Amino acid sequence: PRPILLTRHGESQYNVRGRIGGDSVISDSGELYSKKLANFVEKRLKNERAASIQWRVLDEINAGVFDGLTYEEMKKNMPEEYEARKKDKLRYRYPRGESYLDVIQRLEPVIIELERQRAPVVVISHQAVLRALYAYFADRPLKEIPHIEMPLHTIIEIQMGVSGVQEKRYKLM
Ligand code: G3H
Repeated sequence: PRPILLTRHGESQYNVRGRIGGDSVISDSGELYSKKLANFVEKRLKNERAASIQWRVLDEINAGVFDGLTYEEMKKNMPEEYEARKKDKLRYRYPRGESYLDVIQRLEPVIIELERQRAPVVVISHQAVLRALYAYFADRPLKEIPHIEMPLHTIIEIQMGVSGVQEKRYKLM
């Protein structure tokens, strides 16, 4: 069986400041993780030749008008939006942005590719996207997806064998 490795990018400045959105620069600690991750992948997949591609479809959930704000600011400026999201995080669509359901739908080609691929794959992406991908492989129910814990600086290795799916976690820092 070949592994699929899922990981979030290293800690970002937005992560540090509790800001929503996926287009932030990496913090020093995030930078360190990127080096550790590269080392890990090199050792774990040493005999593999891997192509590296950047895929827009792996971008973070689009937070629309709330991109770059904190949850506090969202709550203060637009409390009804904040409450609507809290009530139904799966279906809530950010104004001019996406919902988790939108993200799940846009990931369909990624899942098809991951299923088809015979070689090991490393997916480096964002929290909401990884929740959705992980839920697919770990067979977790739709309603849980927005609440799945997806820690930073951790690699989730998924092995799909004949006897089902196995999972290992490596916390690098
Ligand atoms: O900035 C976006 C976050 O990674 C998504 O987290 O859906 O739990 O607010 P959230």
